Amino acid sequence: MTDFATVLASHRVLVCVGSGGVGKTTTSASLAVWGALHGRRTAVVTIDPAKRLADCLGLTLSLSEATPISAEVFARAGLAPTGTLTALMVDQQSAWDATVAKYAPTSEIRDRILANRFYQGLSQTFAGSHEYMALATLATLVDSNAYDLIVLDTPPVQQALDFLEAPARLQRFLDSKLSRWFMQPVAKRSWAAFSFANQTTAMLLRKIEEATGISTLGEVAEFFTAMRGMFEDFEVRFSRVSALLASEDTAFLLVTSPEEEVLHEANAFRAGLARMKITPKGVVVNRVHKPWQMGSGQTLDPKQMTTQLRQRFPQARASDIRWMVKNFLAYQELAKSEARHLQDFYRDLPSAIPLVSIPLVHQSLADMQGLATLHRYFVAEQRQETSG
Ligand SMILES: Nc1ncnc2c1ncn2[C@@H]1O[C@H](COP(=O)(O)OP(=O)(O)OP(=O)(O)O)[C@@H](O)[C@H]1O
Ligand SMILES: [Mg+2]
Repeated sequence: MTDFATVLASHRVLVCVGSGGVGKTTTSASLAVWGALHGRRTAVVTIDPAKRLADCLGLTLSLSEATPISAEVFARAGLAPTGTLTALMVDQQSAWDATVAKYAPTSEIRDRILANRFYQGLSQTFAGSHEYMALATLATLVDSNAYDLIVLDTPPVQQALDFLEAPARLQRFLDSKLSRWFMQPVAKRSWAAFSFANQTTAMLLRKIEEATGISTLGEVAEFFTAMRGMFEDFEVRFSRVSALLASEDTAFLLVTSPEEEVLHEANAFRAGLARMKITPKGVVVNRVHKPWQMGSGQTLDPKQMTTQLRQRFPQARASDIRWMVKNFLAYQELAKSEARHLQDFYRDLPSAIPLVSIPLVHQSLADMQGLATLHRYFVAEQRQETSG
């Protein structure tokens, strides 16, 4: 069976997916630092709205440009990378603008698109354009051949597969009869053709209208006319990204925490990925409460614990001792219940998928040193240990 470290070492693209708040950004940043320390030219891409990745890497600047993490940042954390690390944050507005600038045939057309209110509305409010741009950025990075390892962090999503399906939704919208209608020469357009518009696109247009105050369809039509060339390329780029995600070079890593409902969400996520013919190549269970291993002769008997604590801390107040005992018992109970839920989760997880578990740690994970402390958990297969 492949272990987790081998999965990291043998893939060019790692995509961290999972429910909100489980530790995707932390894991992505830590994996990226791991890549740089293992001699790989690494890029980490986030579309995290909270700019947490920048914080993690000790950067205060905005990351809309590819930002190399300097050797000094590593050195301050006592690390000496043999590879490199570059961080990118996909800020959707600048990503769209960059795409327009790249593909517009003339500067006049570029300016026309950028000044178009429909474009501004679409690029700012269309749910999915963010994700689309992240995946397009991924494709560009892969094509550039400048990186041996690209780690893609994904945003908090309501629905498990929003992230992956959003670009397809955008593609469907661009392919829809509605957008084709807009792309026709003005004389041919007729309002009757609107009956083609399905509910989703109609709703989308309404939303954009609400957000931007656009009331004339002229702007919309002008936008589509100006963008026609770009859309053709979008299609090519989108199928390239889809192929990349399904390829042998890419590993999806499912990140979860050990709470029962989050594990259910992780299973739903896995089922959703399976529908897209994607199997996660690794699972990270994060923020696990590891049970305190009792020494020989120690039991969970509250009376005995109280006596032992009194002997150990003779100055402590009785109420403090009671509080410590209560807390410790609650912690052990929590750890036990997590272990039970994890056992159920492992049972359903194909044994070929390597799994690591990362405990809830107390040191800060908001800097490079903290991120590097998680590396030890990437090298040990933890399924046996935790489920035993
Ligand atoms: N193993 C850990 N131990 C302690 N704290 C952790 C651990 N992993 C992550 N955290 C903390 O949990 C919080 C959420 O982590 P993170 O931002 O990485 O989650 P996320 O999945 O990216 O969230 P979102 O879905 O909102 O983007 C952060 O404050 C992070 O520092
Ligand atoms: Mg995040």
